[in-house]
Amino acid sequence: MAPVAVDKYDASQFQTAHNSKTKNGAFTVSEKNQHLSKYPEYLPTWNPSQKFPPYKFQKYYDQGLLADSKLSNLFPKDGDYQVKKLTPRFGSEVSGIQLSELTNEAKNDLARFVAERGVVAFRNQDFNSKGPEFAIKFAEYFGPLHIHPTSGSPEGFPQMHITFRGATQEEIETPFRSSTNSISWHSDCSYSLNGLQLTLFSCLQLPESGGDTLFANCVEAYKRLSPAMQERLEGLHVLHSSIEQAEANKRAGGITRREPEANIHPLIRQNPVTKEKSLYLNKEFGRKIVELKHEESDYLLNFLYDHVEKAHDLQVRIQWSENTVVLWNNATTVHTPCVDFSEPVIRHAYRISVMGERPVSDVKYLNDETYLSDKYELLGL
Ligand SMILES: [Fe+2]
Repeated sequence: MAPVAVDKYDASQFQTAHNSKTKNGAFTVSEKNQHLSKYPEYLPTWNPSQKFPPYKFQKYYDQGLLADSKLSNLFPKDGDYQVKKLTPRFGSEVSGIQLSELTNEAKNDLARFVAERGVVAFRNQDFNSKGPEFAIKFAEYFGPLHIHPTSGSPEGFPQMHITFRGATQEEIETPFRSSTNSISWHSDCSYSLNGLQLTLFSCLQLPESGGDTLFANCVEAYKRLSPAMQERLEGLHVLHSSIEQAEANKRAGGITRREPEANIHPLIRQNPVTKEKSLYLNKEFGRKIVELKHEESDYLLNFLYDHVEKAHDLQVRIQWSENTVVLWNNATTVHTPCVDFSEPVIRHAYRISVMGERPVSDVKYLNDETYLSDKYELLGL
């Protein structure tokens, strides 16, 4: 089986340093960290009695399909804003546009823009000061929101996935106890039946530098392969599982809000908005190519992981600042944290993810509930 990184530090999961409780009996960060927090209403809580049923297949519709082809609602001709390509094909940075003030038409353009550019950083946003409910309402325009099975969230807002690194030396050093680096390429929650798609991430409190996020373009990664290799990958599917993540979280004393799940997804998927094909890889949650033997699967998956990770010419690195909101397409990209802090200070951020389509190898299967049912039967899933 492909390597499973179960002991990686994950700032969104429960840590033993989170030794306080809320009035409702949920775990939360230490009193010291509560005191140092600039945004206490966004602090993570882990409530052992909070339970959600398993996800079922959801029909999908993308607001990006309603976008203006020139994105003129998001970027009006005479507007006072700047748009910069961070690399020619992947990643953009926008300043002078306030996401919280967008019309629905501009939001449709935004969905399309993120689908096209993969990842977009909007600087100087006012989301953080508006509280968790505002950001959730904004994201709900694009579709149903994902609730993470084990992560912390502000009380009353389970759709908000919080990442919180406390102001202790121990939390800075933890990732390096069992690894030489903190790099861990993945897309979020690929074990879900419907994938997470449009994802919004905002930093609330952070050090002067450090903690960048690296993104890789899996559309370009697919295009770089030879026609012979592209042909070889067609028709292959990967088993994705959250079982190991759930077990690691349980061992650390965390909560289980939803039972772990495993699903089969195509290795090459097609984007319903741009119609482009991309590699659908996940080093954290991808376990095996179901059509191959273990050794063959490891060989091929490890080649593909190496291909994406080494190709700095299809990656972009986002530097965070307070009030930067980044949106990315979780279906066509992978990302990794970069833990390089030197000072024990708080890093506090939130993520909201819109549920996308169930990944399909061809958009002709979009919203087909019986897609891959033969493979599920064969594996007893
Ligand atoms: Fe992630």
